[in-house]
Amino acid sequence: MPKLRLDKFLKDQGIASRSEARELIRKGSVSVNDVIVKNPGTHVNTDEDIINVKGEQVEYRQFVYYMLNKPKGVITATEDKTLKTVLDLFPDEIRRRGVFPVGRLDKDTEGLLLITNDGIFAHNLLSPKKGVKKLYEALLDSFPGEDAIKKFEEGVYIGDNYTALPAKLQYISKDPVRALVEICEGKFHQVKRMFKAVGASVIELKRLRMGNIRLDETLKPGQFRELTPEELCQGDGSSDTLFPKNRKNSTADTPDV
Ligand code: URA
Repeated sequence: MPKLRLDKFLKDQGIASRSEARELIRKGSVSVNDVIVKNPGTHVNTDEDIINVKGEQVEYRQFVYYMLNKPKGVITATEDKTLKTVLDLFPDEIRRRGVFPVGRLDKDTEGLLLITNDGIFAHNLLSPKKGVKKLYEALLDSFPGEDAIKKFEEGVYIGDNYTALPAKLQYISKDPVRALVEICEGKFHQVKRMFKAVGASVIELKRLRMGNIRLDETLKPGQFRELTPEELCQGDGSSDTLFPKNRKNSTADTPDV
C-alpha cells in the first residue's frame, strides 16, 4: 500500500513546500476522506485516500515528464549559485516534485531536453547499454567534405583515447553549412568534438530528437510541455520501450498498444 506522510504528499504534488504544507495542515485547510486532519505526520494511502486542500481535490501523480525547448545561455543543472539553470524555467509547483534533466546539453546548445522525476525513465534513456539515438542539427563554420559522412560512419577519434561509435551524418545545405547528425552515445561535447575531428567547428547546435521523442517545434526556446501518453510509450528506436507499460502513476496513463 503506497503510504506517505501528508506533508510530504502535498510537497511531492507541488502544492507547497514541506513547511508551508505543515502550516496548511495545522490551519485546518486539508482534509483526508472529508475529515479535516491537523497532524502533518498523518499517513495517507495514495491509491485510495481522497485529499482536498481548501476544498480542491489533489490528484496523486508520482511521476511527471516534460519536454523543454532548452534555450541557449542556460546550464543543464538543477541549481547554480550564479548561472541560470534549466530548472529556473519551471515554476515552483513542478520543481517541488524533485524533477531533474535527463542528460545534458551544453550551455550554448538548444533544443530537446527531457525533464522528469522518474529515475528509471531517465536511466532507460541514458544508459550506454541502451544506445538510445539522439539527433542534432548543427550549423558549421566550414564544409568538412563528403568523406566526413564515411568517417562518421566508421567512428571518428575525438581525443582522450576515445573513438566515437558509428554515427550518421547528412548535409542539409552547403551555404550555410547545415548538417544532421545522429549519435547513440553522449560523451562530453560529443558532436562538437566529432566535427572538430573532420576539420569543422560547430557554430550552433540544436537537439531535435531523443529516442523517438521529437522536439515539438511549436515550443519556443524556454517553453515546455508535458509529454503525451504516446510519447511516453514510444520506443527508443530499438525494440525496447522507454517506459515500462505497467508503471503506475505516470503523468498520463500509458495506453495499451
Ligand atoms: N554534443 C555537444 O557537443 N554538445 C551538446 O550539447 C550535445 C551534444
